Amino acid sequence: MNIRSEIKKIEDKIIKWRRDFHKYPELSFQEIRTADQITKELKSMGLEPKINVGRTGVTADLKFGDGPMIGLRADMDALPIQETSGLEFASKNNGVMHACGHDGHIAMLLGTAYVLTQNKYPYQGTIRFIFQPAEEGEGGARYMIEDGCLNDLDQIYGIHVWNYQALGEVGVKAGPIMASADMFDIKIKGIGGHGAAPQGTVDTIIVASYLVQALQTIVSRNTNPLESTVITIGKINGGHNFNIIADQVSLSGTTRAYTESNRNLIKSRMKEIISGVAETYNAEIILDYRDGYPPTINYPEPSQLVLEAAQKVVGEKAGPPYLSMGGEDFAYYLQKIPGCFFFIGSAPNKNKLFETPHHCSHFNMDEQALLVGPSVYLNLIDKIMGN
Ligand code: NI
Repeated sequence: MNIRSEIKKIEDKIIKWRRDFHKYPELSFQEIRTADQITKELKSMGLEPKINVGRTGVTADLKFGDGPMIGLRADMDALPIQETSGLEFASKNNGVMHACGHDGHIAMLLGTAYVLTQNKYPYQGTIRFIFQPAEEGEGGARYMIEDGCLNDLDQIYGIHVWNYQALGEVGVKAGPIMASADMFDIKIKGIGGHGAAPQGTVDTIIVASYLVQALQTIVSRNTNPLESTVITIGKINGGHNFNIIADQVSLSGTTRAYTESNRNLIKSRMKEIISGVAETYNAEIILDYRDGYPPTINYPEPSQLVLEAAQKVVGEKAGPPYLSMGGEDFAYYLQKIPGCFFFIGSAPNKNKLFETPHHCSHFNMDEQALLVGPSVYLNLIDKIMGN
């Protein structure tokens, strides 16, 4: 790996930052200490941070001269998980943990800011450091956008550490890289009765069983098999006793798609199937479908720039990422301006990639990954703002 020397020099600093944020994780929109620490660090670098952007977010601009304006974004929230990692810098906050690696994202962006402020680069342009709250479900990006964090920006970039790839790999590609993540609740209402006398009843357990199967045919029969989609029903509730026909069942689930057209297709087919099943079984079925994050879709040119910047760090180990159907609110930025979201391989054990997945209570990362991300950023800024 070709870690930038400026970054290698501040390795201890970056790791210290990451461990500090790891020790004191905060949930979405409660990133008070986190934002304070970030603000303090940015000030000590000579920047003038703006606070309370998008509620608990922080931004700071570094101007080198006339030229393009580039945003670099790190998310800062943790998850409601009790940490079991046993690390010496494990979470001190009960039931809260940086189990997705956002602590590392903050440290990488601070490291990048540090190097860019402490060295005199002959750049033309402005860099905006964006520390965003509430990525884990609340869509903090939307609040940042409302508060103007994209104003005057030409492009935006974001990093995720990625335990599905080994250290020394960088995952980047144009097009969809994270899925839309919508939620739904379904309520089925029927007519209950004696378990031995089904005549005259509308058995909602039968209806639910059929509906669960029928909804899966959207993925297997309606969408193009070459385009990934998921429908998961994760929760089912209903019934009273073994000898009572259930008058009500509720289901909850999520849908995932890489394109808006598949997302819409799933939504409309769900409505059609539900109304058909309701008619078939004489039941009443109510669908409450809620849009979550849109698909995250990288722009071609920024993705090519990241790929070239990453190749300078990890050579041919820069390439298509290990993709997931997870959602990411970076999608909202890319709905507004061009940019690229990419992945830094960070698996603690390269031989067991799935041993420490994101969002698990023993999550950890290979901290050397925290040197890779800023090195890619510096190479990227060289490309965009250098001569
Ligand atoms: Ni995350």
